[in-house]
Amino acid sequence: MNNQKTLYQGIINKYKRYLPVTGKTPIISLNEGNTPLIPATYLSKLLGKEYRVYLKYEGLNPTGSFKDRGMTMAISKACEEKSKAVMCASTGNTSASAAAYASRAGIKCIVLIPKGNIALGKLSQALIHGATVLAVNGNFDDALALAKEITKDYPITLVNSLNPYRIEGQKTASFEICDALQMAPDYQVMPVGNAGNITAYWKGYKEYKKAFKIRTLPKMLGFQAEGAAPIVRGYPIKKPETIATAIRIGNPASWKQAEKARDESKGLIDMVSDKEILDAYKLLAAKEGVYVEPASAASIAGLLKLAKRGYFDKPKSHEPCLSGRQARTKNIVCILTGHGLKDPDRAIKSIKEPKTIKINKKDVLKELGY
Ligand code: F0G
Repeated sequence: MNNQKTLYQGIINKYKRYLPVTGKTPIISLNEGNTPLIPATYLSKLLGKEYRVYLKYEGLNPTGSFKDRGMTMAISKACEEKSKAVMCASTGNTSASAAAYASRAGIKCIVLIPKGNIALGKLSQALIHGATVLAVNGNFDDALALAKEITKDYPITLVNSLNPYRIEGQKTASFEICDALQMAPDYQVMPVGNAGNITAYWKGYKEYKKAFKIRTLPKMLGFQAEGAAPIVRGYPIKKPETIATAIRIGNPASWKQAEKARDESKGLIDMVSDKEILDAYKLLAAKEGVYVEPASAASIAGLLKLAKRGYFDKPKSHEPCLSGRQARTKNIVCILTGHGLKDPDRAIKSIKEPKTIKINKKDVLKELGY
């Protein structure tokens, strides 16, 4: 007989003492979380022996992105509050996750997506889980403004990251990283779109420190796409553009909180070009064996950009003082937010299509150079 207690049962069950749930909260879970922290051998070598790079592979969540951590909380709390419908605006992953968790809860899900700008895998998820999918003639920011307006006036729960339960669930990824390393990382690198995730991670680290689970806090290093970099530029972008459609956002809802995470951690928020994102996307797949969607590769593009700039080289003012102590190897954790299979079109467009040859041994061997 299975002992339910020995089975992993998702982030609410694992971290409930840090989450706003009670015995009365109906837990809607797909056993999200518990994602691997993979040592990045190639990238660690690139950075030199003082650094060890890890990949937090959030693409291995049940719907293929980190959104599931927040969605198990948002949907569970919506059910506790007897809500019968949820709504979100999305560049794709939030809608995929909301649709899956809402179907599990037996409630209605409505999603607003920017027409023509979401990856096919994500659209297929929202549709197959039975969400009402409405493509709007506008970008993510326009869709979010509309979702906010509608959910204010109608009995529909907003499950974008403005919903505080989303942040609560997402912060559990930082707990997992600290549990795995048995300390906080020195640096955390991640993509920034609507800025909910950077807000969530920073909240998680601070709470873990307060609970004496860790003694230090990481520097938060966030990366936006060059054509959609409002926080870096300091003003909203009316027409954001990037191939990383997940982070094609011009006016992030958690803008202020992202700046707070950056400043309190003495980190930075910078931008990377689409070319840098695509190069990192291909490098990660070719050298580390990890397939992510383009937005997730912004983490690696950012890491490489900082390494090239010498950010990690010299002992400098942004480092903790290690006087009198031998400097230990520093840990850098890169968050890989979504799975590559979300957007296979992009992979095929980025690499040469396979060559067609005649079906005989001689031709195959000739191609292989034998
Ligand atoms: N990476 C992926 C794969 C995402 O889908 C998103 C956001 C981010 C990074 C950025 O996270 O918004 O918390 O700063 N996707 C949202 C969506 C906007 O609708 O799926 P953020």
